[in-house]
Amino acid sequence: MRGIGLDSIDAKIITHLQQDGRRPYTRIAKDLGISEASVRQRVSRLIKRKVIQIVAASSPLDLGLKKARRQPHRYASDELIDISNVSPEGSVYERSHSKIISNLANQLWHSDSSFQKPAAKYSMLSAVVVPEQGGQTEFADLRAAYDALSDGLKGEVENREAEHYAWHSREWLGDAVSEEQKSAFPPVRWPLVRTHPGSGRKVLFVGIHCTHVVGLTLAEGRVLLADLLEHATQPAFVYRHEWRPGDLVMWDNRCTVHRGRRFDLAARRELRRVTTEDVASAAQEAA
Ligand SMILES: [Fe+2]
Repeated sequence: MRGIGLDSIDAKIITHLQQDGRRPYTRIAKDLGISEASVRQRVSRLIKRKVIQIVAASSPLDLGLKKARRQPHRYASDELIDISNVSPEGSVYERSHSKIISNLANQLWHSDSSFQKPAAKYSMLSAVVVPEQGGQTEFADLRAAYDALSDGLKGEVENREAEHYAWHSREWLGDAVSEEQKSAFPPVRWPLVRTHPGSGRKVLFVGIHCTHVVGLTLAEGRVLLADLLEHATQPAFVYRHEWRPGDLVMWDNRCTVHRGRRFDLAARRELRRVTTEDVASAAQEAA
């Protein structure tokens, strides 16, 4: 992965571990003249890098809204998505900046890139700097949500589609969206009920990117979508991750929605994301 550095000490650690995967960190640290904690930290980073490489090799990487937003960013690699409130100059953005609006949109329940075809498959998010309070990420299981629907609602949503639009949440939050940005991401439709390829279970595919339900009035569809999202994100279906620097969390966007939690916008929060495209599902549903 470009954008994730590998220096000469990393290379020496890899050589040590290739010679003997069980070599104690104390011995590697002594040989390289660094602390055992530093070896441990570097090995952890190398493992994460390897995980990302393995997953990324299985599918093309998703650039998300970077395809339309022509803003300067901090990483050499387009595929490394900067989930932070930090400018390329290194300062925390003013709260009115569009990057902050984008971050706030991430605090609304969504499945990454459900506004495009292909949508996202796996997202991998790694924490670098976390605020002292808040800023957690919550995940809700859309398979459990489908299973718990009443028979009546299952009948209502079966064979229905919802339209997903990239700028729906941004416009709702007052962001100015250009015609160029709009044309880069025309709305797409996904069935409200999809089958998760991994488990074979049905999924209630909802989230903030949904604008309306095809075939229903705007009002009726939006109230239905709000009800379904409220149902899908009830506490019984939610896991909350409390970030520590160095954590890597990976999730499957085909069967979950997630959201960041509130934190002081003046506090620094830096995470990095890599996401793969769900090429197979898009091809299957287009067939
Ligand atoms: Fe996200």
